Amino acid sequence: DLADGHDITTVEGLEQEDGALSPLQDAFWENHALQCGYCTPGMLMASHALLAQNPSPTEEEIRHAIGGNLCRCTGYQQIVEAVQMAAGKMRGDRP
Ligand code: FES
Repeated sequence: DLADGHDITTVEGLEQEDGALSPLQDAFWENHALQCGYCTPGMLMASHALLAQNPSPTEEEIRHAIGGNLCRCTGYQQIVEAVQMAAGKMRGDRP
């Protein structure tokens, strides 16, 4: 099994201990990066994995990372902007 010996995090695991949204989830909300929400768990988890490895991704790197997920609603731009905002917040950049 590919999952043997690995930790698995689902979208429910992104929330913070106090139940608040993670910076990434918050950035999706702030940037209107979801509409129907169908693609959102996949977009969040792909973005979460990207930011864990690369705290300063370029737009091209973000688009590559989320490329396995289809979104019929947003046109992707707001998703890219949300990931960029979350990356900045997680790095501690000033707004
Ligand atoms: Fe509807 Fe992405 S928000 S498919």
